Amino acid sequence: MASLRSVALTFVAIVAPVMGGVTYPDCANGPLRSNLVCDTSAAPEARAAALVGAMNNNEKLANLINNSPGVSRLGLSPYQWWNEALHGVAHNRGITWGGQFSAATQFPQAITTGAAFDDALIERMGVVISTEARAFANNGRAHLDFWTPNVNPFRDPRWGRGHETPGEDAFRNKKWAEAFIKGMQGTGPTHRVIATCKHYAAYDLENSGSTTRFNFNAKVSTQDLAEYYLPPFQQCARDSKVGSIMCSYNAVNGVPACASSYLMDTILRKHWNWTDQNQYIVSDCDAVYYLGNANGGHRYKSSYAAAIGAALEAGCDNMCWATSGTTPDAASAFNSRHFSQATLDKAMLRQMQGLVRAGYFDGPNSLYRNLGAADVNTNIARDLALKAAEEGIVLLKNDGVLPVSLNGSNSQVAMIGFWANTADKMLGGYSGSPPFKHDPVTAARSMGITVNYVNGPLTQSSADTSAAVSAAQKSSVIIFFGGIDNTVEKESQDRTSISWPSGQLSMIQRLAGLGKPVIVVRMGTHVDDTPLLSVSNVKAILWAGYPGQDGGTAVMNIITGKTSPAGRLPVTVYPSAYTNQAPYTNMALRPSGSYPGRTYRWYRNTVFPFGHGLHYTTFHVAVDDSFPKTFSIADLLASCKGAAYYLDLCPFPSVPITVANTGSRASDYVALGFLAGEYGPGPYPIKTLATYKRLFDVQPGQTQTTQLEWKLESLARVDQDGNRVLYPGTYTLQLDQPMIANVTFTLTGEETVLDKWPQPS
Ligand SMILES: *[C@@H]1O[C@H](CO)[C@@H](O)[C@H](O)[C@H]1NC(C)=O
Ligand SMILES: *[C@@H]1O[C@H](CO)[C@@H](O)[C@H](O)[C@H]1NC(C)=O
Ligand SMILES: *[C@@H]1O[C@H](CO)[C@@H](O)[C@H](O)[C@H]1NC(C)=O
Repeated sequence: MASLRSVALTFVAIVAPVMGGVTYPDCANGPLRSNLVCDTSAAPEARAAALVGAMNNNEKLANLINNSPGVSRLGLSPYQWWNEALHGVAHNRGITWGGQFSAATQFPQAITTGAAFDDALIERMGVVISTEARAFANNGRAHLDFWTPNVNPFRDPRWGRGHETPGEDAFRNKKWAEAFIKGMQGTGPTHRVIATCKHYAAYDLENSGSTTRFNFNAKVSTQDLAEYYLPPFQQCARDSKVGSIMCSYNAVNGVPACASSYLMDTILRKHWNWTDQNQYIVSDCDAVYYLGNANGGHRYKSSYAAAIGAALEAGCDNMCWATSGTTPDAASAFNSRHFSQATLDKAMLRQMQGLVRAGYFDGPNSLYRNLGAADVNTNIARDLALKAAEEGIVLLKNDGVLPVSLNGSNSQVAMIGFWANTADKMLGGYSGSPPFKHDPVTAARSMGITVNYVNGPLTQSSADTSAAVSAAQKSSVIIFFGGIDNTVEKESQDRTSISWPSGQLSMIQRLAGLGKPVIVVRMGTHVDDTPLLSVSNVKAILWAGYPGQDGGTAVMNIITGKTSPAGRLPVTVYPSAYTNQAPYTNMALRPSGSYPGRTYRWYRNTVFPFGHGLHYTTFHVAVDDSFPKTFSIADLLASCKGAAYYLDLCPFPSVPITVANTGSRASDYVALGFLAGEYGPGPYPIKTLATYKRLFDVQPGQTQTTQLEWKLESLARVDQDGNRVLYPGTYTLQLDQPMIANVTFTLTGEETVLDKWPQPS
């Protein structure tokens, strides 16, 4: 989440909002000074238990919500659990901007950094965001937990929040989550901040007709759940030990996610062993309200009290409640026995253990408490935001016009379109205030380029083209900045069409008629580029997503060749007819009958495929002959036993490859390894991303060698019961999209279950 729901209700302030940020408890002189919670040498669980033991039931019951009042008797100040930082510290409830904290680094949205296929970049970004977030918190301007990352796979191109995610592929989102959480929380026992993976689970619809996120019942097969919708959360919980997870608005197979003991207990806590550190689950804002008898909700329970009981008993520990005019009455739900004493104590223990692990009770000289204003908007952060944008830009088409030198005879450039001169558009949803905003026109002018700028339409179906035409006539190159923005795709608002906005198309066609090269830079997520591909003077298309505070500089650096593009599409570009062929509410991944299936693994008729991305140079890629051609399943598992309990994490031998730059420009190169083959039960996916690695700055004439690392999880298939199984058979690792090299190998022996999936009851 989350913004206020759109349904208007009379505002009645019942609980005063928590203003400001963290006030750390005074462990030296305050009422808790002799409580074990203040003893940094004790175990986190014991510390949290000692604190909870000092609270009475009324105090516990008052603190089950995001806007927690604290316990003044114990010196616990109010605490707001609702803090956002999707791609930088954001404007929202728990965060107060001002003074030395009037700006924070705004990175590209996850969909753009997803395109970079550079996990080290994502981790560094997480370090910067959490460092700035902690600095805000230390100065009373934020709290210690942040509701980021959003790792739901981007299943349908209509989704208004797809740009908050790293893309459509479960494996990619898993790796992105791993790197980001490592950066956000740090790797030591104390978390720099608490990250929150959202939205658990199968959440990827805002509104489709009368179906909304508040009442959608996602019907998901066990196979698709285990294979596609849940792996990023498995990474978060089981492997990255994320501090918190948010349950989602929607229901899964009839049970609202925030009341699902199958999702929250059987899978998340038990199967993924997330109980070990007693991490907490927070509900999306008003998700508990909407599972009660609220209008427009699930009507899963007939009262708020019963809804609260269902959520807490199923494993939710903190309820975000945003709806004006109502407040969760946990006390009356408790008194009418909708949840037990043990559940209340457990929820409080988990919340407090989260704060213990974030160093809340560790005193002013503890780790991360020294972070302050000097750690926000550093030069390192600024450079990283630019680099992240450059790495994420994808060259979709190039008829040789790019890179273009914008000097001398090309000194006049027409820059036309709705976001050419509008930096706010580059940030996207859940943004904060950046230290600066470099839109493309500003960036071009600071490079000494003479710009003829004209605004263009966003959604209007027609626009006056005369000013654009005269700007273009004065110029030798035309750059059109189009696509959609986050007023078109946004939270609470899915689209019905993924066509290029018609007013923009007619303007592009008019400009292309002038006989000069047109470069289109598309922002936002899905639109069908097909009509552009048939306009011959549209010589190049770049996709920039939401490139963040320095997005204009990144785009101009790529256009002029200062930086070479190497990003790859983290989504399939679908034809506009897709929205008629695939009902939005159909969650199935596999095609059947007239249903075309979803994502690059199953859908064939793409405009641009997942993984597509061109370069300014050419590469020759080869797999080293030394890679073995046969593996015994028994040997693979025997060599791993003891090293890893989870068999899907057993390593598979790395694939040595060489990447030679055979062209004339230095460039990064993303090595994508897709697995293909007919092994295990059909139907067989077209191919599946199995490993990837970004190589940096490969010089012309140079060859870099590297190893593509992967684990058994990448070779396994998920059967209809959700089990992840390693099957004997013939496999081919295909490099790049389209494939430019491959290696075929065989697994011999017996099929083996790597992860036995808990069945729904
Ligand atoms: C589950 O977590 C506990 C506590 O961290 C650990 O001792 C145990 O080994 C974990 N189980 C598995 C299967 O990894
Ligand atoms: C102008 O030309 C110089 C030298 O060729 C080049 O380094 C620079 O990047 C160019 N500037 C632009 C904006 O293209
Ligand atoms: C592997 O590459 C070769 C040569 O490029 C090609 O002919 C063959 O079809 C590829 N095999 C697979 C299974 O992709």
